[in-house]
Amino acid sequence: MLKPDLDALTQSVIERFADTPDDRLKAIMSSLVKHLHAFARDVNLTEAEWFKGIEFLTATGQKCSATRQEFILLSDVLGLSMLTVAMNHDKPQGCTEATVFGPFYVQDAPHYENGDDVANGASGQPCQVRGTVWGLGGEPVPNAMIEVWQADDEGHYDVQKEGLEQAQARGVLHARGDGSFEFRTIVAEPYPIPIDGPVGQMLEATHRSPWRPAHLHFMIKADGYETLITHVFRSGDGYLKADPVFGVRQSLIADWIPQADGSTSLDFDFVLNPVPAIA
Ligand code: BEZ
Ligand code: FE
Repeated sequence: MLKPDLDALTQSVIERFADTPDDRLKAIMSSLVKHLHAFARDVNLTEAEWFKGIEFLTATGQKCSATRQEFILLSDVLGLSMLTVAMNHDKPQGCTEATVFGPFYVQDAPHYENGDDVANGASGQPCQVRGTVWGLGGEPVPNAMIEVWQADDEGHYDVQKEGLEQAQARGVLHARGDGSFEFRTIVAEPYPIPIDGPVGQMLEATHRSPWRPAHLHFMIKADGYETLITHVFRSGDGYLKADPVFGVRQSLIADWIPQADGSTSLDFDFVLNPVPAIA
């Protein structure tokens, strides 16, 4: 039987990108073709299976909207988001580790003063968060911009709630002159990532849990330092070892301490990586 030369096919596809003017694009496309072809050959992909794959990717795109990014979710559950974060934020020892951004960040969150309640009506047990933003050299970082966002105690971010007019459980504040900050919010609880789409179907078909361990999201920006995108996780959470998006880092797990008045407090300091000055 006439059998096409599979290696030659892969090579001729790669050669078709030979005239790409942008060297980086050329390298990415060539490697993508090489590894995609290797994957198809590794699993002996059938036509029916690849058609299913195309249906899955189509459904993933169709699920996307202004408030839902199913492709980010797919990248997250395949570990590709965390791999990319880890490769690009190889910081010196002592810096706070970065983790996945997630799909629920929104720009233009409301601004708050230190001590304010960023929950703004989101349901949950009260929680007081305190900390200091430091630079790697041990210097406090005054006025650092701190963005925080989290789900409520039913596992929903404000953007997932239809008809909600104001931002809840998200906000922007600035560290004081000594780098310290504090705000009130609600206790983070574990929640399942959205499973009402193709990514959820894939998790179900592969018997994977959608539950993320409880966490607060932070993005911290300050002049002269690398922007930090990270989470703080709750120690003792049963889902820490099985995060579906592989975002947990030991150094990001903190004690959330119950207080006598029924509230909870979290103390967590962040250490930013200085950006080398351009000569
Ligand atoms: C999140 O923590 O908000 C999140 C991260 C990745 C996928 C889904 C949700
Ligand atoms: Fe989250």
